[in-house]
Amino acid sequence: MYSKKLNEDIKKELENLKLAGKFKVERELGGAQEAEVKIENKKVLMFASNNYLGLANNRDIVESAKKALDSYGFGLSSVRFIAGTETVHKTLEKKLAEFLGVEDAILYSTNFMANLGFFASLTNESFGGEETHLDAIYSDELNHASIIDAFKLCKKESVVKRIYKHGDLGILEQMLEEDKEKNYRFKIIVTDGVFSMEGYLADLPKIKEISEKYEALLFVDDAHAIGVLGKTGAGTPEHFNLHGKVDILSGTFGKALGGAVGGYIAGRKDIIELLRQKSRTYLFSNSVPPAVVIASIKALDLLKEKPELLTKVKENSEYFRRGAKKLGFEVLDGIHPIVPVMLGDAAKTQEMSKKLLEKGLYVVGLWFPVVPEGTARLRFQVSAAHTKDQIDRALSILSEVGKEMKII
Ligand SMILES: Cc1ncc(COP(=O)(O)O)c(C=O)c1O
Repeated sequence: MYSKKLNEDIKKELENLKLAGKFKVERELGGAQEAEVKIENKKVLMFASNNYLGLANNRDIVESAKKALDSYGFGLSSVRFIAGTETVHKTLEKKLAEFLGVEDAILYSTNFMANLGFFASLTNESFGGEETHLDAIYSDELNHASIIDAFKLCKKESVVKRIYKHGDLGILEQMLEEDKEKNYRFKIIVTDGVFSMEGYLADLPKIKEISEKYEALLFVDDAHAIGVLGKTGAGTPEHFNLHGKVDILSGTFGKALGGAVGGYIAGRKDIIELLRQKSRTYLFSNSVPPAVVIASIKALDLLKEKPELLTKVKENSEYFRRGAKKLGFEVLDGIHPIVPVMLGDAAKTQEMSKKLLEKGLYVVGLWFPVVPEGTARLRFQVSAAHTKDQIDRALSILSEVGKEMKII
């Protein structure tokens, strides 16, 4: 029953979120996701989406999805092992595995679901008749929420979780050294490939070296890197000359590659097969709609056909980063299209993002507890779809508001 207490407690919680400045407001877009979008009937520059390659409203992708709707209908009304799989699901998995230089891949409805499904499948059960087992997971403290939540689905008695300070590979190695004699069944190191609050890359070469030294499986969530980093857009492994050499990758089609939905795990054939058998978020959650699958295949094809998109997003990011620095802002260094402009103060960040939007620039402000206290920032996300004129306009608005607020 919806009791008076429940009602009051929920109201109080919502009020507290507002008082603490943590209440999230969803801006209504009056159209497609593009370099400029409509908010409240006004055109604004979009610097807050993960539309890194500008494919979210790409005509070829849209046309391929439209055609697929005519041939395959809207959805499959079930999961693949019950109501059947479409050949196109298999085609996308094969293409993706080839693209990433690994043996196999499995599709999930989202990257979140993929991460939730992976860890529990591997760690919860004893394989091959062992009575009990204990596995260890080593995780960067700033890994994505889906990885943190994935651990909650792992049985306490089967898994030891060890969280290391962000990017501190000395501590990671020390943990593995301490655990050498502990006879864990499996050891898994998990890291984001790109950390989305800063746009920083994980030091994959070093993490890979540690994973080999201590015989730990390496899992990289490359959500912000697929379609962005590496010579062909295959992500952080390719960027670091480790293409095909990371044991397990997860990622999404919901950011650079068309921006709809669809996640995956990619890696060794036997692990992927195990996931098809055991992974609950795969087995008991609907298959990705064929139109989305076919459009995602098109996104991978476009990435191959138009390598200039990768060059463009890189050049645009450099141009914007350099420009914001030149204006006198404190900007985090990096190579990723996530460009954080550091303001420090949460109230100032809230005020500034509001003023920027009023002047036609949509960028997201982040503050505690999303980022550490005192490190509030505006997180700009640059796209290959931005023209030089649009970036110049964004910088000009940034400069105007920065001066008005006496930040620069
Ligand atoms: C590192 C990382 N992993 C996973 C996800 C979830 O991706 P999806 O939207 O496909 O569930 C995100 C999205 O924010 C992410 O940044």
